[in-house]
Amino acid sequence: MAPPALRFLTCGSVDDGKSTLIGRLLYERSLICDDQLANLERDSKKFGTTGAAVDFALLVDGLEAEREQGITIDVAYRYFSTDKRSFIVADCPGHEQYTRNMATGASHCDLAVLLVDARKGLLAQTHRHANIVALLGVRHVVLAVNKMDLVDYDRAAFARIVAQFEAARAALNFLSVTPIPLSARHGDNVCRPSANMPWHDGPDLLGFLETVDVEDRAARPLRFPVQWVNRPDADFRGLAGTLASGCVAKGDEIVVAASGGRSRVARIVAMGGDLDRAEAPDSVTLVFADEIDASRGDLLCDPRHRPEVADQFAADLIWMSEEALYPGRSYLLKCGGNCLPASVTEIKYRLDVETQAQIAAKKLGLNEIGFCNLALSRPIAFDAYADNRVTGGFILIDRATHGVAAAGVIRFALRRAQNVHPQALSLDKARRAALKRQKPALLWFTGLSGAGKSTIANLVEVALARRGVHTALLDGDNVRHGLNKDLGFTEADRVENIRRVGEVAKLMLDAGLIVLCAFISPFAAERRMARELVARDEFVEIFIDTPLATCIARDPKGLYQKALAGQIKNFTGVDQAYERPEAADIVIGADCVEAQQAADRIVGWLDARGFLAPD
Ligand code: ADX
Repeated sequence: MAPPALRFLTCGSVDDGKSTLIGRLLYERSLICDDQLANLERDSKKFGTTGAAVDFALLVDGLEAEREQGITIDVAYRYFSTDKRSFIVADCPGHEQYTRNMATGASHCDLAVLLVDARKGLLAQTHRHANIVALLGVRHVVLAVNKMDLVDYDRAAFARIVAQFEAARAALNFLSVTPIPLSARHGDNVCRPSANMPWHDGPDLLGFLETVDVEDRAARPLRFPVQWVNRPDADFRGLAGTLASGCVAKGDEIVVAASGGRSRVARIVAMGGDLDRAEAPDSVTLVFADEIDASRGDLLCDPRHRPEVADQFAADLIWMSEEALYPGRSYLLKCGGNCLPASVTEIKYRLDVETQAQIAAKKLGLNEIGFCNLALSRPIAFDAYADNRVTGGFILIDRATHGVAAAGVIRFALRRAQNVHPQALSLDKARRAALKRQKPALLWFTGLSGAGKSTIANLVEVALARRGVHTALLDGDNVRHGLNKDLGFTEADRVENIRRVGEVAKLMLDAGLIVLCAFISPFAAERRMARELVARDEFVEIFIDTPLATCIARDPKGLYQKALAGQIKNFTGVDQAYERPEAADIVIGADCVEAQQAADRIVGWLDARGFLAPD
């Protein structure tokens, strides 16, 4: 029987010859059609970097923009086969800013061809890519030392690079590392042993790729993430999805991981008709003997081999956004068919990809790798990534831009919340508020330092007290003297400042109070988080929109003067951003110069909307 198809990727630094190598593979095995070859010869003259010879890289660098810049900017998948095996190859870009594409490619691959330029040896990017492929579960690596022709096929040059990689791989947990010296440009050791390197006693690249053993996903326990409920009419109800691992046969008992509901498989419906049995990675619709309660996001499994179900886990993150990761900030987590709010509760460490050192970190920047604890808004079913790359992998999405912020690899469930159950209380927010004859609310004042937040909030509270309203006022400067005295003004600390204040405000709302919060709260993400902590109609965002120039002119605490002189770092509006609210409920702008006037407007607004007269 032919071995299963091999999915592999090529990676390494820019100019290490990835595209040339794949082009050469296809060419030597006559896998290029004649018309492609004619185009290739023509394009080689136009864009090529190899003089009169055919430039194989052009065969793979399919996109015009790539050709013009001479780089690969997206993952290009090629399918080809020899008489021994079929292959799916992901050609991943080498530039740092394209790590995202490279990670996408790696998460589907069994093997990585890590290219190294024989003249340059291992570079930072080589280490980064080796770490990412290891993290994403690629178990086999070919260390392809390319451009051997440019070092006169020198055995010692090859041996040096191999030794260098041996030292680095110890922590990376690969099943196999196979070093091959080659020249993609001239075809040495690509599809056949090279006469130029008789000293090499290992395989040539294609020979190795044709025979390397890869794992059979069908042999693992059943995991069937439900993608959608297929219900075309009242008589048919099936759960559609792709088997992430394992196999399923008619009559098998399955369990819905999160709820524990069980049933037997009555039918397996596929494109061509019913099947008796399906295995990973088939896509099928399962019909059950009973009305089983499961929907998109649920994970169906073999009852004897259950996944984890938890709302917290530890995971490695590859951060892919220009906007740094801050613990406490809310992201959307996508795992299987689930999409739910989640945040990083702690960064355990950031990884130095060259030394494997674990470095303390308060944030993760673009392309950095960190080991973190995450908390989800509800429990989901998952596996450790080492056990299952589909049910153990996830992405984080930035809630403002909707872009992918990180790729994640789950290590283990955290049991910390497992034995902590919410305590049912006899009195609730509504009862406590009723006693006070008021409707709880969170009045969130945001704006630059010196904008007038505290002054106006104070006047609003005085006006509310006169009307017999029970209030509490949380003010940045005051809270930072107590609860938050451990926090400074880095972005990470500001995120944590607002997270804690939001939680405290929520407790105070539970006590039935109207809570006024006066914080710069410069980031839209944390203001949204505060809004989401309370009920939709309880949150009032009040933007004190005083221009920076006015704040500087007022400079009530002399802080702007110091910040402008460089004596205070990270000062909002000076060397750190303030993200203006886009849809504040109340905006106090230039038309409201006097603080009392602003306070009157706010109280009027609350009055008009029934906040102050709940009866
Ligand atoms: S926030 O950004 O985290 O919301 P917060 O409102 O708690 O800030 O605290 C802001 C107050 O701290 C300012 O009114 C100012 O008095 C003081 N402060 C000291 N250093 C800074 C700084 N670097 N940036 C802004 N405010 C600062």
